[in-house]
Amino acid sequence: MSALSDPPALAGAANGPSSRAAASLALDGVHFRHPGGRAVFRDLRLAADPGEFLVLLGPSGCGKSTLLNLLAGFLAPDIGTASVNGHAASPEMPELGYVFQQPQLFAWLSALDNVRFGLKMAGRLAPAAQRAKALDYLRLVGLEDAAGLWPHQLSGGMRQRVALARALAPEPALLLADEPFAALDAISRRRMNEELLRLWAALGQTVVFVTHDIEEAIFLADRIVVLGRAPAGIACELRVGLPRPRRLLETSRHPRFLALRDQLLERIAHVTESLA
Ligand SMILES: Nc1ncnc2c1ncn2[C@@H]1O[C@H](COP(=O)(O)OP(=O)(O)OP(=O)(O)O)[C@@H](O)[C@H]1O
Ligand SMILES: [Mg+2]
Repeated sequence: MSALSDPPALAGAANGPSSRAAASLALDGVHFRHPGGRAVFRDLRLAADPGEFLVLLGPSGCGKSTLLNLLAGFLAPDIGTASVNGHAASPEMPELGYVFQQPQLFAWLSALDNVRFGLKMAGRLAPAAQRAKALDYLRLVGLEDAAGLWPHQLSGGMRQRVALARALAPEPALLLADEPFAALDAISRRRMNEELLRLWAALGQTVVFVTHDIEEAIFLADRIVVLGRAPAGIACELRVGLPRPRRLLETSRHPRFLALRDQLLERIAHVTESLA
């Protein structure tokens, strides 16, 4: 995977980075249960400031994907509100970029056209510029050579990276990412973490990112929210406070990184034990 010397948004500056301000978001007094299921959230409260990088951790089944779906407006709270920029969350929000836990690519479109799709829908760029931008984002995720491949010709990790490129290409003011790097090998995952932070520093979007990887969480986040057993909601929150820009090697040796890792391991063990 080759890293870019400039994030695509800067390389494509003639088209301008996202003209939208970063989004604020809030879940307020949210109660939610899936139809026929048990309660996932009771009186959940969570807010993020514009431009904040929020990471969600928590055991399997605690409600991380459900929380993202509430923020995206794919699900509606039974009680309470989910809002983005002060308006009820809705999948039609122009601010929204979503990377699903299971990458959902269009089987009838090439990797390039999958990435181009959102740009085409936004209608802000001419076809040649859409193509150039889609290629920039494929390069960002290390897949410029796979532009012409169909989804069935891609590995699981490649599909995940195409899905990430597709969500990033329209430069959304709000990026919701559900374990986007879970299928990547360790080296690619580290590179993608650095690339994502570089892009975020350039575009300043609000990010809510789900992971099971504690070190990834600390490396990326401004704030980490640990969810407990459903419907417990938030078990604890930590401000990361590590200096930026972050580089994996230096950051992962920082004494605060090591202290946060121990603290999180302890808290997550506690949350997980309470599930047993
Ligand atoms: N469509 C659905 N219908 C009924 N129950 C559901 C549905 N989707 C999720 N659930 C339930 O809601 C709870 C939270 O699920 P969710 O997918 O949000 O967990 P998660 O934290 O994302 O887990 P993982 O880390 O495994 O992805 C679980 O108990 C799950 O069984
Ligand atoms: Mg999930």
